[in-house]
Amino acid sequence: MNPMEISPEQFRRLSERVIEIAADYLEGMDARAITADGDGVEVERVFRTALPETALPEEAIRGLVDVARYSRAQNGRFFGYVLGSGEPAAAVVDLLCSVLNQNVTAWRSSPAAVTVERTVVDWLAQAVGCQSFQGILTGGGSAANLMGLAMAREATAPANECGLREGVAAAVYASTEAHMSIPKAIALLGIGRQNLRLISVDDSFRMLPEQLEQAILRDRALGITPVAVVATAGTVNTGAIDPLPQLAEIASKYGAWFHVDGAYGAFGAIAAHDKFQGLELADSISLDPHKWLYQPLDCGCLLYRNAAAAQRAFAHSGEYARVLTDDPVEGFAFFEQSMELSRRFRALKLWFSLRYHGLASLRKSIEKDLLHAQRLGSAIAKERELQLLAPIELSAVCFRYVGNRELPEVKLNQLNSDILQRIIARGHVYLSNATLHSKFSLRACIVNHRTTDSDIDSVPAEVLEAAQEVD
Ligand SMILES: Cc1ncc(COP(=O)(O)O)c(C=O)c1O
Repeated sequence: MNPMEISPEQFRRLSERVIEIAADYLEGMDARAITADGDGVEVERVFRTALPETALPEEAIRGLVDVARYSRAQNGRFFGYVLGSGEPAAAVVDLLCSVLNQNVTAWRSSPAAVTVERTVVDWLAQAVGCQSFQGILTGGGSAANLMGLAMAREATAPANECGLREGVAAAVYASTEAHMSIPKAIALLGIGRQNLRLISVDDSFRMLPEQLEQAILRDRALGITPVAVVATAGTVNTGAIDPLPQLAEIASKYGAWFHVDGAYGAFGAIAAHDKFQGLELADSISLDPHKWLYQPLDCGCLLYRNAAAAQRAFAHSGEYARVLTDDPVEGFAFFEQSMELSRRFRALKLWFSLRYHGLASLRKSIEKDLLHAQRLGSAIAKERELQLLAPIELSAVCFRYVGNRELPEVKLNQLNSDILQRIIARGHVYLSNATLHSKFSLRACIVNHRTTDSDIDSVPAEVLEAAQEVD
């Protein structure tokens, strides 16, 4: 008998036990501390076990209980980073994705999976008001930004064949608030981080178009090619949305690619379309369903206006993978438009989640997150000991504790850093941080379908109590 064979009956029993553990985790999530049990020493002791030479099925299953126990619980009071809440209907379908084990390279390898992914990408494009765009699912926003910028480089300063030619200097423009994945992509693409021009922002953390144009003009005078203008639609710190129509116009005037990093914010367009005017002017857009569409990790997406530009950047098929038909459906290959060949069937969870809940439910949830951010902002504004540090454009709320006596900025920064650590250790609420104009800020990013009004209302009190404890 094949030593790895599992009968369908065994599979059924095993999955029931695993689902039981998952359901227990969901059931207990609200009551337990968000931060996981145990310190580094304990977690190392529990998981760093010897490579098992013989089967340990019961121990392996018990180990899953430990994994859940030593994981951070994403209940309705988790507001850290930009992390979607992992909606369970999508999660349960992820199991089927692995069982089917379809390789989403090309239609001939996975007809259903390719068709579902193309459908889901069309739906996402439609949901954000860019219906004519095509695209592909990615591992996340960083991968989508890298691919969007690879397309930009190939469209404006081609380097796929010979590398960036000597003497061809190229630059990319993004605001000082751009996500760290932008400099990373620029480094990987051989453009060089020093050729990323960080353009200043206004008081609302939005890129200043005049400064952008001046930077491009300065570069052009030196013979430097403007490769791409990267706008952010929902900056990671404050959720600011760059002035997309103006930036699109400047990019087009100087022949630069216009990429919008909407990894955090662009799904906000489902509930607040007017805030995202100009999104449809982009050449490429990064989206992250694992953020504001509440999907379990991982699931990013790159949309592009023109599939030929994706092919120019990515098509380079080995002979063994060559597609042998011209049929537009059956001859479709994602690897002609992507940096990856083997790909997980990420679209399944998203397709199921959208059909199971309906876009209207997701829209309501996004609307609720937007309202919750305003509710938290109002509560903070009413507390004399707290101070808002940025306008609330989407669902990120940046604020700090100032107490009731004058403290120098250096002290306030240290105090707020201590408060954040205390809040996290208390385990009731989870916040992260940002630095805004050199001020250490506490930051709640609300992309959480579980959050209730009372979860929001508990935040200011939690911060004030933590402040008492560290003072
Ligand atoms: C604006 C923005 N862009 C890109 C990313 C990177 O996305 P990912 O973590 O999915 O790679 C993030 C992550 O928070 C983000 O907020």
